[in-house]
Amino acid sequence: MAVEPFDAVDLIRAKRDGGRLSPDRIAWLVDAYTRGYVAEEQMAAMAMAIYLNGMDRDEIRDLTLAMIASGERLDFSSLGVPTVDKHSTGGVGDKITLPLAPLVASFGVAVPQLSGRGLGHTGGTLDKLESIPGWRASLGADELLAQLRDVGAVVCAAGAGLAPADRKLYALRDTTATVESIPLIASSIMSKKIAEGTEALVLDVKFGSGAFLRERERARELAETMVRLGADAGVATVALLTNMSVPLGRAIGNAIEVEEALEVLAGGGPADVVALTVALAREMLALAGRPDADVEAALRDGRAMDRWRRMVRAQGGDPDAALPRPRETHVVAAERDGVLVEQHALAFGVAAWRLGAGRARKEDPVAPAAGIRLAAKPGDAVRRGEPLFALATDEPARIARALEALEGAYRIGEPGEAVLDGGPLVADRITAS
Ligand code: URA
Repeated sequence: MAVEPFDAVDLIRAKRDGGRLSPDRIAWLVDAYTRGYVAEEQMAAMAMAIYLNGMDRDEIRDLTLAMIASGERLDFSSLGVPTVDKHSTGGVGDKITLPLAPLVASFGVAVPQLSGRGLGHTGGTLDKLESIPGWRASLGADELLAQLRDVGAVVCAAGAGLAPADRKLYALRDTTATVESIPLIASSIMSKKIAEGTEALVLDVKFGSGAFLRERERARELAETMVRLGADAGVATVALLTNMSVPLGRAIGNAIEVEEALEVLAGGGPADVVALTVALAREMLALAGRPDADVEAALRDGRAMDRWRRMVRAQGGDPDAALPRPRETHVVAAERDGVLVEQHALAFGVAAWRLGAGRARKEDPVAPAAGIRLAAKPGDAVRRGEPLFALATDEPARIARALEALEGAYRIGEPGEAVLDGGPLVADRITAS
């Protein structure tokens, strides 16, 4: 048996005591962990040491490179067209990938979007798409390439061969309270995106109550770290810092978010969803060498919708099939006249999750028809007795717990009162320079 060059305990001790890890130590640690030589409890201790003491820029880059090296790297250069992807750090009602991927692809740019499933209060793109009858998330490498060539857009599950070290480490972090660490989040996200082989990447990094990192300055630090990692790896990367204090759009769930995405693709839809889709599409197309592309026109004239239908069909889905309907709905009405001044994203995300739209454990199924439809958004005038929102579920027993999550989560104020929505939707733009 080959002699291992390092000892995990020495590396953990060094990080625990505030030291830094050299590139060869990080490369060995990640490789030995992937092989099963470094034990789960040792990596858990290391993750906590990183969580508490952080990592410098070089260490984060070396960790990212080591996680990329743990698996395969896809290569789309044979396509002969630019490739560009988007990653969102996750939020409530965030269905932007659904209209965005076909919209960008309608300009002849390839969008390989390898996505995940939802865990906790944030929804997963694959869960939303799986509410379309027949649609399948798993594609082989050849199918992925063929669809990118034929349709230009693919949203599918990341294969097990992509950054397997991250897959193991992320599951471990989830159970050891070490998720919310900027070095660990940045290396996790960017190792997958760089291994995926995209030439350019736009990051939607969210802050506010419904986001992973609630404080804007922490979200900015994460965005800056990821943009730097992208640039170091030769992937042109830009980040938008976006506000997730209130739910995005009027639909939170799976099938109802697909319906809302269809409204956007048909040239309508809620203003905030359209604005973010357009902002991200412009960034993606600029990175792909199409800064003048008329994104709004492609939504208005059906080009993006046409691409959506082809994308759904290519993965076995029926774009004309009826989407699942809930067995039960429960409408909450305004108790008085006034203006809706608060609507907290996290509470609405948790409520939708409790209705069955999300999962508590990775193995759990999601209920495609469960969720919340918002009849009023912050700033809207409301009248006593009119609906504020409707809860949808297949299991009526879930409604009481969802309502519990929503206690204190919204407020009707006086006309003229300040609306607490956390400010503009796109708060900043972060580039490598
Ligand atoms: N998403 C990821 O892929 N990794 C993280 O660490 C956090 C969010």
